Amino acid sequence: MAKSDKETLAVLLSRARIARRVRELGRRISRDFRGESVLLVGVLKGACIFLADLSREISLDATFDFLAAASYGTSSESAGQVRLVKDLDTSIQGRNVILVEDILDTGVTLSYLAGLLRQRRPKALRLAVLLDKADRRLQPIHVDYLGFRIPNHFVVGYGLDFAERYRNLKDICVVKTAESGGKPGRAGDRKENRKARK
Ligand code: IMP
Ligand code: MG
Repeated sequence: MAKSDKETLAVLLSRARIARRVRELGRRISRDFRGESVLLVGVLKGACIFLADLSREISLDATFDFLAAASYGTSSESAGQVRLVKDLDTSIQGRNVILVEDILDTGVTLSYLAGLLRQRRPKALRLAVLLDKADRRLQPIHVDYLGFRIPNHFVVGYGLDFAERYRNLKDICVVKTAESGGKPGRAGDRKENRKARK
């Protein structure tokens, strides 16, 4: 696919590895909720490809809904404030909800969204997250269905973007930019990543 001259991509997780892991997670969810139905809630836009694949590995009655959040970036990371920009279409009261997210970084976004959904009294609320940069965590959060723990690199593909690009890559790749001196982009480069995020 077309990419800027300044950026190079290196595969971190191949499509085959992702597919195997997503299948395992789908089987676990199907076992855990046997005989029941689940509502998969995807966080737009990054989680849409993970949700699409995960849902097809779940052998239960399943429905979809979506949320979108925006975070205010400031020079101070811990000051990150999250705001809901698209709410669910349906009530989740009494339902088995699985909140599906692409990547957990500081944890601020998912903690906020999980707290919000919990207040609406679902029967169960579980978190399914494809990637976890655990080193970066500011807010403790329990993930029920985790794909992979990854090092602190900026990654794209399989739904994840860099300034809205690369979401349609089949593999998950590390972006190396000329600005980062040819080294993988670090999530610690906060300004750059805040821009890349939404
Ligand atoms: P958190 O609130 O710091 O956990 O941020 C999570 C959000 O930041 C994710 O939903 C992504 O939108 C974005 N994000 C964090 N790290 C990356 C990355 O490496 N690539 C692409 N997006 C990222
Ligand atoms: Mg996201």
